[in-house]
Amino acid sequence: MKNIAMKLETVKWDNGSVVIIDQTRLPGCLRFLRCRTAGQVREAIRTLQVRGAPAIGAAAGLGLVLGIGRREYRDFSAFEKKVDEICAYLCSARPTAVNLAWALERVRRVMTRNQARPVGLIRKLMLAEALEIIREDKQNCRAMAGHAQAAVKKNARILTYCNAGMLATIDYGTALGVIYRAQELKKNVTVYACETRPLLQGARLTCWELRRKRVNVTLICDNMAGYLMQQKKIDLVIIGADRIAANGDTANKIGSYTLAVLARFHRIPLYVTAPRSTFDLRLKTGRQIPVEQRDAAEVRSLWFKRPMAAEGVKIYNPAFDIIPAGLISGIVTETGIITPPYTKNIRSRMTA
Ligand code: MRU
Repeated sequence: MKNIAMKLETVKWDNGSVVIIDQTRLPGCLRFLRCRTAGQVREAIRTLQVRGAPAIGAAAGLGLVLGIGRREYRDFSAFEKKVDEICAYLCSARPTAVNLAWALERVRRVMTRNQARPVGLIRKLMLAEALEIIREDKQNCRAMAGHAQAAVKKNARILTYCNAGMLATIDYGTALGVIYRAQELKKNVTVYACETRPLLQGARLTCWELRRKRVNVTLICDNMAGYLMQQKKIDLVIIGADRIAANGDTANKIGSYTLAVLARFHRIPLYVTAPRSTFDLRLKTGRQIPVEQRDAAEVRSLWFKRPMAAEGVKIYNPAFDIIPAGLISGIVTETGIITPPYTKNIRSRMTA
């Protein structure tokens, strides 16, 4: 494999624009997309050019700053109105990953706290906050990776799903960060990556970035996971999350629930890795998490030269499912691993 281990960041602010790795081009081609407007950022989020809960949040925070622009505002209330419009517009790009709303709200709060100051200064402070989200993401991923090592034994064979790596964050990853850290600690881990239909984030993105970091990875089709578990080839399942309710129910890429049921049946521990910004304590249970429905073309024909389903067939394409908390062995956050009873332990961890 060619050495392409240069330092990459999934989302960054560069000279007044937001530069993202265009994930729809991977693994064939590493291309960067420069967004100069909030509209371009929204489109990049909607079409999954930037994806993964923390990365979406980071892009949206910067997208808000782009939307504000450098123009003059009549007064604070005109400015506030514009900010609220952009927040609603960006937030509507994808409904499940709560990091999107969380980042926008966090940057918006800077405006509220500083309303007595000139708009030009507020904008600067909002940009600083959006950049702080990026800085914290890097730190949080490394902290999660460290805490999770308690669950990763030497020679562990780890199954992962979708992409919860550097491409889903800024530069390290949540679930894949755990694997990178294990590798740094010379634990000799091996990884099975599920391809993750329909958009193949596992095949296209996880395998690309694990190979780039020289992790021993084997790609499997999603429906092979149970067979591997039955053959005792998996010691541990590690995945990311898009939204975690107050009781620990976890939304993640469609197919995660199936894996969690399989893992429980085979007595294999399953860990969710997510920063505290992925928790949504307003929701009591996973039943309240909005599940994004996506275009039928993603199942029928996208990524294929010819359609892979009969013309006109009805297609159901929910992008996420919900893992009941009872199937999760632990939730790894930047401040430590949360174990059951989740409602109580999540509340205390979040207020700590
Ligand atoms: O539709 P995607 O590719 O944005 O879905 C991403 C996932 O489901 C990830 O597992 C999740 O966002 C966690 S990323 C650290």
